[in-house]
Amino acid sequence: KVRESGVFEKVEVAGPGFLNLTVGGGWLAERLNDLASDGNLGISTQGKGKRIVIDYSSPNAAKQMHIGHIRSTVIGCAIDRIFRALGYDVIADNHLGDWGTQFGILIKGYRECLSDDERENLTVANLEKCYVLSAAKAKEEDGVWKDACRAELVKLQKGDPENMALWKRFIDISIGEFERMYGKLGVKFDTYRGESYYNSMMPGVVDRLVSAGLAEESEGALVVKLEAEKLGVAIVRKSDGGYNYTTSDLACVESRMADYDPERIIYVTDDRQQLHFRQFFSIAAKLGCTTKLVHVPFGLMSYQGKAISTREGNLIKLDDLLAEAKRRAYEIVKDRGGDETLAEQIGYGAVKYADLSHDPATAIDFNWDKALALEGNSGPYLQYAYARVCSLLAKAGDDGANVETAAFTVSTPAEKRLALQLLEFPGAVLRSAEAYKPSVLADYLFQTAQLYSSFYQSSPILKSETELRNSRLRLCSLFGRVLKKGLYLLGIEAPVRI
Ligand code: ARG
Repeated sequence: KVRESGVFEKVEVAGPGFLNLTVGGGWLAERLNDLASDGNLGISTQGKGKRIVIDYSSPNAAKQMHIGHIRSTVIGCAIDRIFRALGYDVIADNHLGDWGTQFGILIKGYRECLSDDERENLTVANLEKCYVLSAAKAKEEDGVWKDACRAELVKLQKGDPENMALWKRFIDISIGEFERMYGKLGVKFDTYRGESYYNSMMPGVVDRLVSAGLAEESEGALVVKLEAEKLGVAIVRKSDGGYNYTTSDLACVESRMADYDPERIIYVTDDRQQLHFRQFFSIAAKLGCTTKLVHVPFGLMSYQGKAISTREGNLIKLDDLLAEAKRRAYEIVKDRGGDETLAEQIGYGAVKYADLSHDPATAIDFNWDKALALEGNSGPYLQYAYARVCSLLAKAGDDGANVETAAFTVSTPAEKRLALQLLEFPGAVLRSAEAYKPSVLADYLFQTAQLYSSFYQSSPILKSETELRNSRLRLCSLFGRVLKKGLYLLGIEAPVRI
């Protein structure tokens, strides 16, 4: 039966217990033709008609983004693009940290620790500065400053117009600054519904928890006991009557269900929040939430072998990190005629790939030499492989256009290996989505580039007779398309010239 399938050109018993199945060149050529003729490169459209929300990046407002924000942003963006490619209707939602006690400290600091000029030309850097000054004063013995901050917060919570206007201004300035970073990284959100958006919905959530018999009083607070699931106890209303992160996320789920009716909500945060997500997923289910809730936790990132912390003095601003990436990439490309745009494509791509090539669950170390290496598993290596294919196709000249209609011949081992690998592209995209791991796709692309490189070294292309030449050129072109699409899904650009 295997012989009759037409897939294999050879089936043989290879010692006791083994069968060797050799895939036939003819069958491979047909499959390659199918793949090459599909504008979507065979990627499944299983997501058609299904909606999902992806909650990622989500920095806290009034602070500049730093190196610690890379992972959620870059991993989230890749998952976002992969699910969109699969046909899902994706809503990318930035769950900003835009509410909380820090705003009392900020408002007081804004009023008293900044110059008129700084207040007029308010930037996130100035907000950060006045926060630091104000927070330091709030620690003073007499407690006067602290009380004043508290009073500003209470005014804000009660909807005082002046404080509300200030708060709104802080948020708008923060989003503007975040969008400047997202612009560099090619990240786009459909909505910025921060924590504050859910404020008015929290009492309702707590009421439902109480009437469902899920919440109970404990030492003045209201809690949901999850000991049966070994998840401890989750506070949903503090003893001072305030709500917390759990309540806010419960309200957020209800609101997303009502507004979007998604089949799934994916949250990308660091792994220290695992208990929080397990707790609120469990409570949401008890409240009747049927949407699939997925937490994609990622490990800590260190920088050049050292933990990232203010104490180590390496809490580098994202803006500075990207500038450094660009500067280093420019050093590499400037003598080969590369410009600033190319330096950005390579530098930012290197930063992203250094993260995405690792399983999100693992802790990673960011290292400049490794990220920017032209050899090995790096962003620049893959970009270079793509640029080389482009230059080969350009060199093939005018009849390059004929290449896309050439008949594939797949006969040498190197051709077969590359063909089989290219046929795996749709599978790699799907596996990457199912595991919520862009690293699956990154691994696939790296392996593909390596197989391409051995094919390229062992198979004469431009010097072969016309039919073989065109078949091989078409294989190269297909590799280029797969690589470009794959890099795009990871959020990495593929310049045609390096
Ligand atoms: N702002 C949070 C942080 O900085 C992340 C929010 C994640 N999303 C959520 N729905 N809890 O860690």
